[in-house]
Amino acid sequence: MKFDAYIQKSKENCANIHGLKPEEIPFLKVSLATEQLEARKRQFEPIRVIIQQFMKKILAYTSETPTLVVATDGEGYVLDIHGDKKINEIVEGLGITKGVRFAEKDVGTNSVSLALTYGEPVQLIGNDHYHHFFEEMACFSAPFSYGDAKGTISLMTTKEYASHFYLGLLSSAVDTIEREMKVQLQNERFHLMNQVLMGATPLGIVMTNQFGEIQEMNESAERITGLLESELKGKNIRVIPELEFLIWQVLEDKRKLENKEVIFLQSEKACLLDVTPLFDRLNQFIGVFAQFRDMQSYYDLQKRVIQSEKLSAIGKLGAGFAHEIRNPLTSIIGLTQLMDELPHEKQREYRQIILSELERMRHLVDQFVMLGKAQASQRKPENLEKLIQDTVCLMKSYARVHQVNLHYQTAISDPNVSIDASQIKQVLINFIKNAIEAQPDGGNVQISLHPDTTSMTVKIIDEGPGMSQQIVDQLGTPFISTKEDGLGMGLAISLDLIKAHDGTYTIHSKESGGTTVEFTLPV
Ligand SMILES: Nc1ncnc2c1ncn2[C@@H]1O[C@H](COP(=O)(O)OP(=O)(O)OP(=O)(O)O)[C@@H](O)[C@H]1O
Ligand SMILES: [Mg+2]
Repeated sequence: MKFDAYIQKSKENCANIHGLKPEEIPFLKVSLATEQLEARKRQFEPIRVIIQQFMKKILAYTSETPTLVVATDGEGYVLDIHGDKKINEIVEGLGITKGVRFAEKDVGTNSVSLALTYGEPVQLIGNDHYHHFFEEMACFSAPFSYGDAKGTISLMTTKEYASHFYLGLLSSAVDTIEREMKVQLQNERFHLMNQVLMGATPLGIVMTNQFGEIQEMNESAERITGLLESELKGKNIRVIPELEFLIWQVLEDKRKLENKEVIFLQSEKACLLDVTPLFDRLNQFIGVFAQFRDMQSYYDLQKRVIQSEKLSAIGKLGAGFAHEIRNPLTSIIGLTQLMDELPHEKQREYRQIILSELERMRHLVDQFVMLGKAQASQRKPENLEKLIQDTVCLMKSYARVHQVNLHYQTAISDPNVSIDASQIKQVLINFIKNAIEAQPDGGNVQISLHPDTTSMTVKIIDEGPGMSQQIVDQLGTPFISTKEDGLGMGLAISLDLIKAHDGTYTIHSKESGGTTVEFTLPV
């Protein structure tokens, strides 16, 4: 048996090298000062905590037996001792305290030194020891190593209680400790990675357990919500009212939610929120993971694009607009020149015509100026029929330049719809402009309004070539344009605005040509 060989060699060392006498009473030497001991212990954190747990567990297993459990470092220095009272005598007799060292040259053949030398679990029972003093003792030691930290865990009892079972117990304890340490190290790495990932991302992240209690919240989440993790940890998600409802929905349904719009009151930030249920390896529901991205900058950009789109529309409409104004201006100038030579009644009649021409011009200018103004979205009941008429009137000159006729004829009794007039006007302009631009050689655009009990539908039908499949596939994607001077923003913005009004739309091109754009707004 290999133990016999180890023991034999050690005993020879004791006699020949260390000059020890078997009949002497060995005594462990205290060789570490308190500070040195503390320094060594610190090196063993956090493994010491795990070892202590195991030492206590081993003691609990062997509660009927006088047992001493000792942990040493890689040089045999005792870092921790746990034992029951029954073994006190031995402890005192030997002088085993923290800081003493199990060394072959002092205490002769001992299990700690052998385990460290050979890197294997070792048992010494009775006369296996060199000194007669130990002949009633049974000692078991198992070495462990974890990174730089090496050491042993040993169990000592009296010979009558000795059992091979103890060596097995120690070996598996050490195995478990090493495994546990690996897991801890991995967890630490995960934790670090988590921190880096969670810390670096601009996404706000909030995690709760299955009871909806906040477990984790990253810096971005603090910035966006205006709340502090340290104050919210462990509290119910209720403390973030903007998230409460949607997170509870996932806590209850355990189904993912995506792209929900949330506006945080404190920071006034508009975000898109995803909430994902979390399951452990056994598929048990353990909580939710919520992430939200700040959409403010996106919305700001969108606003700016809408504004520049408006301006570009104004630029394009400008040419036609000048044309539109030139006609009444010409007649006003002509009439004014004629005025002096005319009889009094005629003058009155002419003045009337001049006034109404001026009135028409002012209306056009008003409409035009309104277009350029950035306005906050505000929904209120508006006369949709009037809005379409105004827009058609505004677009007439643009249509004329393209030799396109705009037709609008609808008379409905209650044309009121709750909308943001300037936004819907923008939608109408974009659609009508596209319909006109689709017919460079002239044609017709039919615009009509169709009321329903709960909604109103606007149809814009042109006689152009229709949309290509490529455009249809990318409908609503910004910056897709087939026109030389097109921004490709018209449809994207219009479809967004319709959605913002809880409306729906269909765009349909026939093979033979002609496109029908239809959008419906709830009343
Ligand atoms: N009525 C239509 N008939 C045919 N094609 C159309 C029609 N409306 C839109 N399209 C196609 O869809 C594309 C995108 O339209 P959108 O209004 O978004 O941008 P655009 O008109 O090119 O540029 P702008 O930003 O000036 O509006 C157009 O370039 C055109 O190819
Ligand atoms: Mg367009």
